[in-house]
Amino acid sequence: MEFFVDTADVQQIKRLNDMGLVDGVTTNPSLIKKAGKDHETVVKEILSFIKGPVSVETIDETAEGMVKDGIRFSKWAKNVVVKIPMNAEGMKAVRKLSDLKIKTNVTLVFSPLQALIAAKAGATYVSPFVGRLDDIGESGMGLIEQIHEIFKNYSIKTKILVASVRSPTHILEAALIGADVSTVPPDVMLKLFSHPLTDSGIKTFLEDAKQWKK
Ligand code: G3P
Repeated sequence: MEFFVDTADVQQIKRLNDMGLVDGVTTNPSLIKKAGKDHETVVKEILSFIKGPVSVETIDETAEGMVKDGIRFSKWAKNVVVKIPMNAEGMKAVRKLSDLKIKTNVTLVFSPLQALIAAKAGATYVSPFVGRLDDIGESGMGLIEQIHEIFKNYSIKTKILVASVRSPTHILEAALIGADVSTVPPDVMLKLFSHPLTDSGIKTFLEDAKQWKK
């Protein structure tokens, strides 16, 4: 399973990239607003050192506007993936961008049929939001299982990008199901290293090795 980092915080992306944990990056308008920089500036900064897929979300409500945004973003770098919302206008835009060989990531997916529609429109990725479904008492991972089964039934090539990840358990469950990608906030990514037995084991080994330290 690939790991994307779900943030527009350039320092955090660099830090995780140095640890070999970043196969790609996903952004959205809220994450870019949080980074406190201009949209184009921050995306280009990320593109200057990330060579894997970088999702950049369109900021228009019409299919024409989304396509225009998508064409503009795709000129910034070869690894740009245009993020498009799941609705009728969005699907029109995905079809057009797919015809233009521009990669897309359909976001705000909350049902298996939305994922199927996005795949039929030609999406490269679909992004089901597991955490937000869990928040309203539905099963985020149940959705991933259903999308995975449907895509397997019809040998659909669209990749399942698990989004709105809130904990390492989400990542573990996504990997067990066989999802293609998890996009993970930096704080959750850092939790993947920790285990109390690892920490105490390192401490003991260093303690015992002290005598030979040069
Ligand atoms: O990037 C989209 C998604 O991962 C957002 O997650 O935590 O705002 O539900 P969240």
